Amino acid sequence: MNSYKQDFRVENMRQISDSIRSRLRSEGRTYFIETYGCQMNVRDSESISGMLLDCGFTPANSKQEADLILFNTCCVRDHAEKRVFGNIGALKELKEQRPGLIIGVCGCMMQQTNVANKLMKRFPFVDLVFGTNVLHRLPELLEHVLNGNRVSLTNEDDISVIEGIPSHREPSASAFVNIMYGCNNFCSYCIVPFVRGRERSRSPEAIVDEVRALVEAGYSEVTLLGQNVNSYGNDNQSISFAELLGRVNMVDGLKRIRFMSSHPKDLTDDVVEAIAANEKVCPHVHLPVQSGSDRILKLMNRKYNREQYLKTAEKLKALRPDFELTTDIIVGFPGETEEDFADTLSLVKQVGFAAAFTFKYSRRQGTIAVSLPNQIDEATKKERLKRLNALQAEMTVLNNRKYLGYSGEVLIEGFDAKGDGVVYGKYPNFKMVYFDGEPDMIGRYADVTVTGCKKNSLIGELKNG
Ligand code: 5AD
Ligand code: SF4
Repeated sequence: MNSYKQDFRVENMRQISDSIRSRLRSEGRTYFIETYGCQMNVRDSESISGMLLDCGFTPANSKQEADLILFNTCCVRDHAEKRVFGNIGALKELKEQRPGLIIGVCGCMMQQTNVANKLMKRFPFVDLVFGTNVLHRLPELLEHVLNGNRVSLTNEDDISVIEGIPSHREPSASAFVNIMYGCNNFCSYCIVPFVRGRERSRSPEAIVDEVRALVEAGYSEVTLLGQNVNSYGNDNQSISFAELLGRVNMVDGLKRIRFMSSHPKDLTDDVVEAIAANEKVCPHVHLPVQSGSDRILKLMNRKYNREQYLKTAEKLKALRPDFELTTDIIVGFPGETEEDFADTLSLVKQVGFAAAFTFKYSRRQGTIAVSLPNQIDEATKKERLKRLNALQAEMTVLNNRKYLGYSGEVLIEGFDAKGDGVVYGKYPNFKMVYFDGEPDMIGRYADVTVTGCKKNSLIGELKNG
């Protein structure tokens, strides 16, 4: 039933895009996508790119040159939302100069019908609005726009997993692979379950096939993506996340497997064992803790307490001495007292994260937390964020010091043009190291020894060079 539906949809998409394709090819139109938010959105933008290329568009170097500008939006925090509105508003003049320009807005923000309506009203020059659930219908929606219509399609209920969408990834050794969509957790501060819908897992076959194709195309590292990868398969698949790691590990030619994000309540012993048992799975877990206070964790509906989190962290760290954890933390959640915040600071000290992504709590309409009493004022949030960041900065320096003399294999990701012939890349455990090299080393692996450390990064040299 499910697969019939998927095939039907893909067929449908192809048929419609065929009719636009010849028209667009002859017109030689270009596109530019501006992506906000998390890796999921980056991955969605790759699918959008794939569909646009398939329809005959080519990439433009800047917004100014593009015939189609698409904003792929995020609504997790207020800040990103405001920026998107500002940046769309700034396009008014460009549209006046070039009325043929198509402006589209998609992504999580547009899954909220009220926000999409507000945007369409406020910016009459926006031609196209669509949510994440209808991403695959882009060619068809574009056809309506090219026929002179303003199009808005948001929050459609059909959330079956769609396979076969073309995809365009930037050349790299590392690729994102979705393993599931949506989230069932309803953490009380979070908008994601409302905009991305319930959890839907891709089949293990589709995932493994995609990884295999990526390896054939020259990729050697994959990051398996989901809002909560540990609940992979709970909806309708026959295997668990731990088993999926085993399947992906068997793909010949693949060197590294990463995954994110993990929910501490679901990172069970079988996952810890799978990390240990599958040699390609990297010794790093991004394990968002959000708060170190049991009282706040309860109000956040996180379904674990501090002690349980610490136990899981310990189990992971016990796997090997260079195992690293990174995390997400929110400060200023409604009702967070100085004592609660002190619990967060002490947890950060106790765990010793390699890095922490820290956020001020942002009120999201529709969530439970928005109406909780004792909302924290902006100045307090700001001040707590500052203290937390200062502590994590100290912890990062301490963590870096452990690595003096450490050697390991680095996947070279980039060349720092400003840095006098310096390349950078990551060890399997996600620690970044900078060392002398040339741009043509990007995408390759090298054995690197750490010779020094800076505030945020490690300095190294090629082991045999
Ligand atoms: N306010 C602040 N941070 C948030 N996050 C999610 N929702 C909110 C919010 N309303 C953070 C969490 C999550 C990360 C992706 O974004 O820390 O792990
Ligand atoms: Fe949001 Fe919680 Fe789901 Fe993460 S697990 S996406 S924080 S609701």
